[in-house]
Amino acid sequence: MSKFYITTPIYYVNASPHIGHAYTSIICDCMARFKRLGGEQVYYLTGTDEHGEKVNQAAKASGEDVSGFVDRVVGNFKKLWKDLDVSYDFFIRTTQNEHKEVVRKVITLLHSKGDIYKAKYQGFYCMPCESFWTPTQVKDAGGVCALCKREVEKIEEENYFFKLSKYEGWLKSYLKKNPSFIQPKTRYNEVKGFLDNNVLADLCISRPKSRVSWGVEFPLDASYVVYVWFDALINYISAVGYGSDDDKFKQWWPADLHLIGKDILRHHAIFWPVMLHALGVSLPRVIFAHGWWKVEEEKMSKSKGNIVNPYTLIKDVGTDALRYFLLREISPGADGNFSYKAVVNRINSDLANDLGNLVYRTLNMAQKYFDGKVTARKCSLPAQFKKTLAPLAQNYAKYMDSLNFPAALDLVFAFVRVMNKYIEDTKPWALWKEKETSRIEEFLYALLEGIRIVSVYLYPFMPAAAQAILRQLGLKEELLSLRECKWAQKETYSIKKEKPLFPRIDVD
Ligand code: MSP
Repeated sequence: MSKFYITTPIYYVNASPHIGHAYTSIICDCMARFKRLGGEQVYYLTGTDEHGEKVNQAAKASGEDVSGFVDRVVGNFKKLWKDLDVSYDFFIRTTQNEHKEVVRKVITLLHSKGDIYKAKYQGFYCMPCESFWTPTQVKDAGGVCALCKREVEKIEEENYFFKLSKYEGWLKSYLKKNPSFIQPKTRYNEVKGFLDNNVLADLCISRPKSRVSWGVEFPLDASYVVYVWFDALINYISAVGYGSDDDKFKQWWPADLHLIGKDILRHHAIFWPVMLHALGVSLPRVIFAHGWWKVEEEKMSKSKGNIVNPYTLIKDVGTDALRYFLLREISPGADGNFSYKAVVNRINSDLANDLGNLVYRTLNMAQKYFDGKVTARKCSLPAQFKKTLAPLAQNYAKYMDSLNFPAALDLVFAFVRVMNKYIEDTKPWALWKEKETSRIEEFLYALLEGIRIVSVYLYPFMPAAAQAILRQLGLKEELLSLRECKWAQKETYSIKKEKPLFPRIDVD
């Protein structure tokens, strides 16, 4: 059985999660569930990034002690993942001793290899991004943070540095030889362009305790803590046993997919590969950077006050519909503009009109005409089904593997619409009047088979709805496997109709 190790970034716990964070975790969940459907052994890692100045200040502002504060916010993240059906296998917290131990081991090892040294840092720091910027980068950005365009703090302090510069040549040639390492292509080009136009400076990896005290104590010098990004990146290996459980590490590493937002590309595509290479550890297979959800063309963030609250949305439209919207509306490489109108349109057209209606009408007929028991008398695949099912079966996995969720869903919904049209064209109510019972049973059986197949394909996107469909068809969850997406797998259906899956939402 092949394995699939997938990770989300670990989230800062300075505030509760918003829809942007939910998006990252939902993409990963969709991938994790898709891989499980294909029979792969999946390890889905998520967690929280709990150190650093930003979290410390948020704790202070709330008047709580830092560890009480982070525990509380971590609780909010865990609750949201539960409410969104995010099926992670492990939740790592950077404040856990096991993780801190590995961070210290990594630094000690890199130091023993001669890759860490002490020197004076002169430059700028952006606290909201927890990032160092050189004077040139700040100047080029117009005197602000090159990423979030907020004010930066000028700092001059003795610090420890990691020799990134030593590995610049290696990184460039690695990227050249591995063009699919960073995806989508635009992000790969961005990193390559950055490396072509800049000389890699060594990375500052400590902060003096006199300025930042909330962090992993620096192993070589107790008057420092580890720079929060250096600490955070290590979670991807500490969570799977690096330095503590060799068998586990061998089982899962390298990660098959690090999914991140495009704002943290530099950290993942430059710092992280070099850290791993310097440690003598192999690199993750793919780093995929998704776009941002914006509100009126601005990235969502707490300080801008334009947060879309995922809890409100779950309450208003439900978990599955929210997941579906986020995954259907944009391709993960692109940016999306969030609007409630778009959410409602998407739900009403695809979920209420097309999918919900198909399931409801079909189950209704099965109930009405056959008391819920439909048996395969003759089970030939209608020609129009074949025409849409074949490309679906052929391309679904390919689109899913490349995270092209809208394309995969387009194929699924093309089949849903074909089934709806099949109902209209066949006019079963007229056949019923003419007592064409076996013709109707054949027709209904075809629809039930089609709906069963659709529910498997939709499972990664809307796990609860897919399970509800199977339940109503009288089937068990074991059928949730891509192997089951073949025609005529069931002899008999025993329908147990429930309330409509996706009621229409009133635009007002
Ligand atoms: N703690 C770091 C990651 C360390 S990983 C070793 C961090 N945390 S974060 O909480 O600020 O962001 C986590 C993820 O949420 C990032 O991938 C980020 O891109 C994503 N999003 C935050 N706001 C977002 C949007 N408005 N839209 C889409 N995703 C966004 O960075």
